[in-house]
Amino acid sequence: MSNLIINNATIVTPVGNSPRRGNEMSRLAIIPHATVIVRDGIIEFVGPTKDAPSHSQDESKVIDAEGRVILPGFIDSHTHLIFGGYRPDEFSWRMSGESYMNIMQRGGGIQSTVNATRHESCDNLIAKARWFIDRMSEMGVTTVEAKSGYGLDTESELKMLEAIHRLATDPDRKLDVVSTFLGAHAVPKEYKDNTEGYVNLMINEMIPAAKGKAEFFDIFTEKNVFEINDSRRLLNAARDAGFKLKLHADEIVTLGGAELASEMGAVSADHLLHVSDEGIRMMADRNVVATLLPLTAFSLKEPYAPARKFIDAGAAVALATDLNPGSCFSGSIPLTIALACIYMGMSVEETITALTLNAAAAVDRADTIGSIEPGKRADLIILHFDNFRMLPYYVGMNCVKTTIFNGRIVYD
Ligand code: NIG
Ligand code: FE
Repeated sequence: MSNLIINNATIVTPVGNSPRRGNEMSRLAIIPHATVIVRDGIIEFVGPTKDAPSHSQDESKVIDAEGRVILPGFIDSHTHLIFGGYRPDEFSWRMSGESYMNIMQRGGGIQSTVNATRHESCDNLIAKARWFIDRMSEMGVTTVEAKSGYGLDTESELKMLEAIHRLATDPDRKLDVVSTFLGAHAVPKEYKDNTEGYVNLMINEMIPAAKGKAEFFDIFTEKNVFEINDSRRLLNAARDAGFKLKLHADEIVTLGGAELASEMGAVSADHLLHVSDEGIRMMADRNVVATLLPLTAFSLKEPYAPARKFIDAGAAVALATDLNPGSCFSGSIPLTIALACIYMGMSVEETITALTLNAAAAVDRADTIGSIEPGKRADLIILHFDNFRMLPYYVGMNCVKTTIFNGRIVYD
């Protein structure tokens, strides 16, 4: 790992080792004429150039940022990165008016990706994911959370977790990969009309088999999928097995997913398009990160999640893409930022916090990534511009010039 010095930078970063809540989300440190010094992949100094310690430039790579903005690397804390096949036909059906849940109920949707994923080799799943990782890296993503959930039997779920593990441990990787077990993504066709049978299989076989092979457990808590009581049983079993918890909550209908996430001490609850006011209050009280996914609302033509209500209630909001082959086939960070600002009432500052420090909290890493501070890993992006307000203004377009992961330039 080499050393790196960036001069002439405009540093823009949230500050701290814990998520920023409520109006703290809009408070960024902005340091013009700044220097960042990186040693062995860790930030050693950040501050005005005049205060920088003297250092030997010979053993370091030196970058002149020419006044450009430097942000912490983006963290995409909710993706379904591993999957077989694609579902372009479903997209057309949805555009002609059929609903996402209707397609799912007649055997398409998640089940159709399950059919394709079960037939795919681990090597092929990895190769496909790498292509998406290259695109993410170009948009400044330095940590991605990746879920299983298209196997829905023990063997295929373990194959997906193995694919995630191999991506996460590749020494040449362009970003960090956080692993989530999503065996509770849907009831597979073998258990049609027998949700209880699948819940029992999860508890007796799949959760024990996945134990230690993923950091997080996630579940699609939804009407006609896993409703509140089944979700509670599964989340309890997962927590007992040592998983940290996440939920797909209140995505399609108001079901009490946010309340359940709060009750269970989940790290995050995600989607929340139809969250209740009580759910918002409980998540703020219990410090559950609200991970909002505007690209999904956009793609499903659903209302956006109430970001302002969460922030005004003092909650910590994160933003993520939800990249997946069904409800949201997009991993666009630029469009996520634009939608959050244009349609969800978030300020540019809030979206930056939501994609960095708060997203780090959503994957339980706020103490090591998510801000540009001494001691944190040197995951940095250099924008083409000297003003961070270009991010939503250049709608849907990539403002990232250079991505640095662990002190190493991985995209330029
Ligand atoms: O986050 N809602 C459940 N899971 C995904 C969609 C998965 C799929 O359609 O393949 C989501 O929206
Ligand atoms: Fe999702």
